Amino acid sequence: MDLDFWIERWDNGRIGFHQDTLNPYLAYFYGEKGTDLAQRDKLKVFVPLSGKSKDMLWLSQNGYRVFAVECSKRAVVDFFEENSLNYKHVEKDQRALYQSNDLDTPIEIYQGDFFAVEKKDLAGVTDIFDRASLIALPEGMRKRYVAKMADLQDAGIRTLLVTLTYDTAEMNGPPFSLSEKAVYDLYSEHFSIEKLCIKDVLSEEKGLRSRGLTALTETVYKLVRR
Ligand SMILES: C[S@@+](CC[C@H](N)C(=O)[O-])C[C@H]1O[C@@H](n2cnc3c(N)ncnc32)[C@H](O)[C@@H]1O
Repeated sequence: MDLDFWIERWDNGRIGFHQDTLNPYLAYFYGEKGTDLAQRDKLKVFVPLSGKSKDMLWLSQNGYRVFAVECSKRAVVDFFEENSLNYKHVEKDQRALYQSNDLDTPIEIYQGDFFAVEKKDLAGVTDIFDRASLIALPEGMRKRYVAKMADLQDAGIRTLLVTLTYDTAEMNGPPFSLSEKAVYDLYSEHFSIEKLCIKDVLSEEKGLRSRGLTALTETVYKLVRR
């Protein structure tokens, strides 16, 4: 599954994964349970494989700084335009960076390949929000993604990881099913792992039901880089 696959999906509007509403786990763990509003400007959240997720807007409007990476130019431009944000496009280190001009919404999106992100790009990052990012990738790419994530992070960086689990005989990804065992196998070498919650989401996921799923759970983990 290469970048062209995703770029073509964006160009053809096949973006069923996009949610127009705020992710409820983000709202809970970074809103209600999050750091005091006054302290949040010290926190910077990295959103890998971001799409045009509304979560970035919410984070920036709720005191956090945001750095994201997304391969599709369409997704990045749509994010700024659909949210009526003024932005500029700059070339930095031969990369396409899109930055909000508004100090109230401190968002920077690197339009390019996640695997080309360098550790210096994550300077100041304290937190990572991974919703539909790891699970967008097929099993064969997971180890590379997690190894890259481990390389990019200093000790102490926290990740909120949202996964889906279903019977792979019923449906092919994306999104790809990830078992709890797979999460521990992938992350335990470099990360501490805490399972925060698990929820039956079959009734909420009409699109995935129509693809044949008869059972579907969502699990949320907190990872901390050791
Ligand atoms: C399933 S979508 C999830 C988007 C977002 N996390 C959300 O919650 O809506 C996966 C996104 O990753 C992007 N993507 C896939 N592979 C990528 C890569 N190697 N580098 C950067 N972006 C990538 C795709 O264009 C797509 O927007």
